[in-house]
Amino acid sequence: MNFEEILEEKIEETDRRIRKYLPREDGFSGKLAQAMNYAMSSGGKRLRPLILQESYAMFGGSGQEAEVFMAALEMIHTHSLIHDDLPALDNDDYRRGKKATHVAYGEAFGILSGDALLNYAYEVALHSFDLPGDPARKALALQILAAKSGLYGMLGGQSVDVDWEGRPMDKETLQGVYLQKTAALLEAAFMIGAILAGAGADQVKAMERVGQNVGLAFQIQDDILDVTGSLEGLGKPAHSDEKNHKSTYVTLYGMEEAARQVKALSGQAADALFALAPEKDFLPRLVQWLITRKK
Ligand code: IPE
Ligand code: IPE
Ligand code: MG
Ligand code: MG
Ligand code: MG
Repeated sequence: MNFEEILEEKIEETDRRIRKYLPREDGFSGKLAQAMNYAMSSGGKRLRPLILQESYAMFGGSGQEAEVFMAALEMIHTHSLIHDDLPALDNDDYRRGKKATHVAYGEAFGILSGDALLNYAYEVALHSFDLPGDPARKALALQILAAKSGLYGMLGGQSVDVDWEGRPMDKETLQGVYLQKTAALLEAAFMIGAILAGAGADQVKAMERVGQNVGLAFQIQDDILDVTGSLEGLGKPAHSDEKNHKSTYVTLYGMEEAARQVKALSGQAADALFALAPEKDFLPRLVQWLITRKK
């Protein structure tokens, strides 16, 4: 099997594992569960939970407790996408190849399903304490999950991103936004897998740096695809950044330099991963493959 076939299989497996934790759609608030599952159920690359699982495996983890964190992380990520598309933020109508949740279910359900997924993520992650495994590792993993999602992580980055809409941003601020709005959840993926598997503090720190570089590269590539891609290819509208008058790595550095930075950051991350576990090659190959992604 070539790398893309291996990746496809792993993504399918990741998807199957996450789906087990989706809420039931019957009962009093069934429509809210439907909106949550609508956003969760299709088209996503499942990159963050896949990275969490592979980081867990890289440090020798083999239990069940990583799975609830995989589901929780994808729920928090999906919450960020539902809210990112709302009229008050990027005002985009398509996501993951279908109508955005606020379009399919109305704005109120876009807001509430995003909130509910963020909360449900912690309901699911807390079930890790019902499973075998070291409680101290699970508690630390929860701290990382919460911190990387919040004020000093993804949500903080989203706030500065929308606050500067329509005004040109300087390079330093833009990098700060990307480190929070996008890199933080990727850092969580790399770190939580390592923590649950029992990696040492230095190794977890190294994985955080890997996540930082992968996250920056990932958002710069997202900027590039926003210019070069299409709705059909991306599953979300192209030219969203231009529409919203956003500064991006493409507008501040130009296409060529932005692409060069994606390569350089990804190369650094792949080298660091290889140095941490020379016999495990999936994650470094994934990081290199992401440079060429088209969605
Ligand atoms: C989109 O993330 C938002 C960004 C951080 C750029 P993904 O590109 O991982 O979106 P899905 O999960 O595959 O839909
Ligand atoms: C958003 O960045 C990152 C998130 C935390 C959702 P973008 O606004 O560029 O993401 P897309 O392009 O809509 O997926
Ligand atoms: Mg946005
Ligand atoms: Mg957006
Ligand atoms: Mg984008």
